[in-house]
This record gives sequence, structure tokens and C-alpha cells, in this order.
Amino acid sequence: MYFPKLRPRRLRQTETLRKMVRETSLAVCDMIYPMFVSHGRGVKTPVPSMPGVFQFSVDVAVQEAVECASLGLPGIILFGLPAYKDETGSSAYDPEEAVQQAVKAIKKAVPELIIITDTCLCEYTSHGHCGLLDGNIVQNDATLEVLARVALSHARAGADVVAPSDMMDGRVGAIRKALDENGFEQVAILSYAVKYASAFYGPFRDAADSAPMFGDRRSYQMDPANIREAIKEVQQDLAEGADIVMVKPALAYLDVIRAVKEMTTIPVATYNVSGEYAMVKAAANNGWLNEKDIVMEMLLSMKRAGADLILTYFAKDVARWLKETD
Ligand code: PBG
Repeated sequence: MYFPKLRPRRLRQTETLRKMVRETSLAVCDMIYPMFVSHGRGVKTPVPSMPGVFQFSVDVAVQEAVECASLGLPGIILFGLPAYKDETGSSAYDPEEAVQQAVKAIKKAVPELIIITDTCLCEYTSHGHCGLLDGNIVQNDATLEVLARVALSHARAGADVVAPSDMMDGRVGAIRKALDENGFEQVAILSYAVKYASAFYGPFRDAADSAPMFGDRRSYQMDPANIREAIKEVQQDLAEGADIVMVKPALAYLDVIRAVKEMTTIPVATYNVSGEYAMVKAAANNGWLNEKDIVMEMLLSMKRAGADLILTYFAKDVARWLKETD
């Protein structure tokens, strides 16, 4: 009955017209690049399940950070491969550790680049869980004290944003309190508020050497079946003082990104995780799909769903691709 008066194709006739009415776009300033930092010098170890991703020693991480800034990326997120692991993850707050050293060195080399630090214990505990254990049970409240120490050590090194990814209850509040009591009220908290117990993290656990030695993370990370619970998590983190909330993974959780976007006024981030990256790389390396087109479409869908920020291993590629099409 609307046809032939209404012809949606009218506005699709030329690229200029399409651009003019485009609802969503990707921008380099919305992309955060994740990096894995280790000890040593001149280290650039490839992560087999993530072609194009490496573990860097601090000196190489600095070069990478300089490159990120020159590509126009606003920030990076750092994960650490420590020199030692123990039951309580104490290397996570060691000022001599890779992350703290990398933060310091990168801040000095590129002060304008925003440094986010993943604040979790799984890379630092001998058992690979994100918190302290009592038997086989991950202890919530005891873990909070350690997480607060970790966040504080990152802030002391010069981190702009700390990003708790452990999924303990109350960690945003505990970290906020510790930061404020120590004069770091300007350090922001990006909460992995909605983090699902996901099979999409598989390749990351190789990259960060953080796979749990027994069991899984389902007693602290969220059940992939739940979305109302995501709202509850975000409400709680808002009350505890989160500055940015994140949904993770991204691609299989676009509905959750949308739901979170509609219930909050703070920025919403999403993490285009290692498994999402590995799937694209595997297919692209087989010539089964066009990497650039797939990546741009995937990331655009995250923006359309409501993400203000995207953490992605494709960040540097996207920055280059966006420059080409400009
Ligand atoms: C640490 C952490 C994980 C990721 C980010 N922080 C792994 C996990 O929870 O097992 C996953 C990132 C990715 O898959 O790219 N807790």
C-alpha cells in the first residue's frame, strides 16, 4: 500500500547519499588496543592461536604504544605475564612486574595515550583462578583486598584507568575506596560489569597463560543464558562508582550491549575477544572471507548495538583501514 510512493532504494543510490543518511560509524577514537607484556628485552613472541598478536617485553611494548598513538588510537589495555605465580597472585601488585614497568615506560614515552590496566589475578595465581582459593572455592571478600592492592599498584605506576575483570562481587566499590584513600580519585574504573563465562576466551588464555588448572569460571563469571542479570550487575557497579561499564564478549552478546546502553548514562564498552578474533583470522587466512570487510561489519554491529568503546585486537588494522577510506 505504501509502494510505489515509498522507495527506500532512493536513498541508496550513491555512496554520498548513503553516507549522508548513515546512522552509525566507526571511529578510530573508539578503539582500544589490548597488549600482553612480559619480562626481558626485545621480546616479541607470537601467540599461535591469535595470528598478529604478540607478547611484548616492556621496551617493545613502548614502541607499539608509540605506534598506537601515531595511528590515532586513544588508548591501550595491558595484560601481564609475570615472572612468578603463587597461590595468592602476589606478583599482580609487585611494582617490578611487567605491567607496572610497562605503564611507567609507556606513560613517559607517550603521555597522552590512555593506559588501561586489566585488574585480575588469573595471570598471577598458580591455579589460574581469578581469586583466592579456599579448597576449590574462589573466595569473594578476601579477593577484594588483593584486587584493591593490584589496582593501587597500577595507579602508582601511572595507569589512567583500571579495569577489574575478575567478577567478584563488590570489587568496584573496594577498588574505588582504595584509590580514593590513596589520592587517586582521578583514576577511572572501567568495570567488566557483564562478563560471561564464555568459550570465546580460549585463545586469550594461551596469550596470557591464564587457564584455570581445575574447574572453570562459572561460579564467578555470568551464565550466557542471562540478560536480566546483566542489568543487575550494571546497576550494582554504577552504585559502587564505575565510570565505564563493559559487556564481554561482544559478538554473541549484542542484545546485552543494547540493554545495558538503554539503562545507563555512562559510556558502554565491549570487548571483541580473542575467540572472535581467532575465528576471523582462521577464515581469512584460508581465503574464506574478506578480513577487512568482516571486521568492519562486526565492529559496526557493536557500535549499532550501543557500544561507545570497543576493545579489539584489530584496533591498529581498523585505524589504518579508516585512514584509507577517508
Ligand atoms: C582475565 C581476562 C580474560 C579476558 C580478559 N581478561 C580471560 C578470562 O576471563 O578467562 C579475555 C579476553 C579475550 O578473550 O580476548 N580475567
